Amino acid sequence: MKRVARFLIVLLASGALLAWLAATVVTHVSRHWFEEDIVERSGRVGDSARAALLARWAPGQGEALTALLANIVRDERIMGAMACAEDGRALARTPLLPPQVGCAAVAKRRTEARAQAGPPPSSSVWGAVWDLPGGNAYVAMVPLPAAQPGPRPGFLVLVNDLSFIERREAKTHRFLLVAFGLLAFLASVITIVAARLSWRGFRKELLRFIQGESRRKEFLPIIRDVRELVERIAAEREIDGQGGAWSPQRLKQTLVRHFPGEKVIVLANREPYIHQRAKDGGMEIVHPASGLVAAVEPVLRACSGVWVAHGSGSADREAVDAHDRVRVPPGDACYSLRRLWLSAEEEKGYYYGLANEGLWPLCHLAHMRPIFRNGDFAAYKAVNLKFAEAVCKEADADDPVVLVQDYHFALAPRLIRKRLPRATIISFWHIPWPNSERLGICPWRAELLEGLLGSSIVGFQTQLYCNNFLDSVDRYLEARIDREQSAVVQRGQPSLVRPYPISIAWPVEWPNQTAAVEECRRSVLAELGLAEDALLAVGVDRIDYTKGIEERFLAVERLLERFPAYVGRLTFVQLGAPSRSLLEHYRQLDQAIERTANRINARFARARWKPIHLSRTHHEPPTIYRFYRAADLCYVSSLHDGMNLVAKEFVAARDDERGVLVLSQFTGAARELAESLVVNPYDLEEASSALDTALRMPPDEQRDRMRAMRAFLAEFNVYRWAGAMLVDAARLRRKANALGRSSDDLGRIARLDR
Ligand code: F6P
Repeated sequence: MKRVARFLIVLLASGALLAWLAATVVTHVSRHWFEEDIVERSGRVGDSARAALLARWAPGQGEALTALLANIVRDERIMGAMACAEDGRALARTPLLPPQVGCAAVAKRRTEARAQAGPPPSSSVWGAVWDLPGGNAYVAMVPLPAAQPGPRPGFLVLVNDLSFIERREAKTHRFLLVAFGLLAFLASVITIVAARLSWRGFRKELLRFIQGESRRKEFLPIIRDVRELVERIAAEREIDGQGGAWSPQRLKQTLVRHFPGEKVIVLANREPYIHQRAKDGGMEIVHPASGLVAAVEPVLRACSGVWVAHGSGSADREAVDAHDRVRVPPGDACYSLRRLWLSAEEEKGYYYGLANEGLWPLCHLAHMRPIFRNGDFAAYKAVNLKFAEAVCKEADADDPVVLVQDYHFALAPRLIRKRLPRATIISFWHIPWPNSERLGICPWRAELLEGLLGSSIVGFQTQLYCNNFLDSVDRYLEARIDREQSAVVQRGQPSLVRPYPISIAWPVEWPNQTAAVEECRRSVLAELGLAEDALLAVGVDRIDYTKGIEERFLAVERLLERFPAYVGRLTFVQLGAPSRSLLEHYRQLDQAIERTANRINARFARARWKPIHLSRTHHEPPTIYRFYRAADLCYVSSLHDGMNLVAKEFVAARDDERGVLVLSQFTGAARELAESLVVNPYDLEEASSALDTALRMPPDEQRDRMRAMRAFLAEFNVYRWAGAMLVDAARLRRKANALGRSSDDLGRIARLDR
């Protein structure tokens, strides 16, 4: 109701404004017309009375002249008239003529007007508005040409009443005001009624659509989304039998309910715990800098089972048992880590070669040319086989749940399927999937696609990557694609292709193991030698060209250029974990980042302050969380990133609801964390403005944004990510069982699946 009243007020006010504008224009135009009219009529009066006037112009004819003038002023609009000799003497005047109007005064005004406007023909009527005590009057001076050639005898002055014009103007004003008011009112009523009717119609049509009664095309995409959402929620409820937030317990129950007694096996190149030989000769445990590990580790903790990975730590062999297994997490063991050993040659070809010089740049739009070598692909195939066999050995029945992680193992799903046809294989591709044209660069694109299609489910971070994958299958494989169901059938094996945006555990464990926010801030500022009121920004990454670390430093430089008040006040701390350092590109990047930081520091540094603190070493999660908690802002500037969990970790770290996240638009996280300040990291003006906005953001706004993002992460945590894939896999398996395992009729499976 309030909204309607506001709408009406605005409309009526605009109506009044329009009326006023229209009245002003109308007054101006009509006044001009009236004056032209008076001048013309005065000329006609002069013409028709000329002969009679000139006949009485002679001296001694004053009375006759006055009687003639009295005749002329019978016209109700003429107030008075006067006959003037050319030298300015009054020969006769009517009694009611205002005394201010004299022959000499009129002649003088006319001379002045002519001086300003340029001489009109001396025979033409001249007139002007005079401000007289009784109101405005229009005084017209009508020249009287001589009857015979000779000097002009004089002129006639006619004083016209303007009050009737003013009365008409007032009437017009009133009329326009009422007319526009009425129009505005009617327009608003019609608009409101039309809007209500069309909204009602829209809702009705939408409802009919939901109920399957309407066939209107424009609603199809909406309705498909709504149905899918409703069905997914209903399916989650029905299959999972539970509601509420996803937690480790709910995930475990879902697993037990749908895959009773079946073992969960995670296959990932990176291990969640690395045993390293310490400097003092002892052994230390390191948590790798890996979003994959941060996300998947809590899932396996909740589900138990085994994690099969490359044993890459210098003391890894010492920590395992005779079967190359070690129970983890240390001190709270609840699952096994099975380590596989790779020769330097295998690691070079499979990990550094195909995975990181081939697939990584192929999938990321970060201007790095992919390199494909036959030898690398041979090593990749061999290592995928080695890991697939290890996975099958870990299975204690023929139908385990295998979670295959990332681009290191595109071939493994098919290899596992061959050995364990009844397995539930869920593959998740953590990085972007390129469009089909770009995938065409890869000589082994068909092998990669076929390998992944050994999975029951192929999961991606976003719908776009699912679409890219389906397009790639369409282009490079002989396979049946059901775009409606987002699924592919190849060699009788159906695979669902779905988006499952990855997340972090909620609540995340590390803030509890870190000091209070104030303490973190105090200790970090002291460590960096900064004043208590210093401003602190943080960036946390593996040193990788996809992360846009140089662009980030350049944005800080631009900020200092544009807003010198931050010089000496803002410190940017970059925690960079060395990564893939055997590769020349990564070593060059490492040096380039250092050079850029040094250059900017040299440009702006003051006595005991420099803008960028670059720490290039491995940092354990408690240190990283201490910086997250101390910072005023965190800047994630990836040039391309499937999700980016640093963004989510920063939000999770801020239980004080303070701090601002500045986030690249090219991350998957930017689709979900809408309350961050989303920027194009290539655009240094935009990025530096966002940093400035973040640093000036009032605490209330920080709180509102943080609160919204934290609520989102509490709901969409990594247990939901894993749970959603398990629920989908369970439905698929139930339907496949119902139809018989050999069936390749995706249509039937998909229909039942819905
Ligand atoms: O983003 C892909 C990814 O596998 C992440 O999941 C992980 O954070 C990162 O790469 C680790 O890379 P690497 O295992 O080569 O150190």
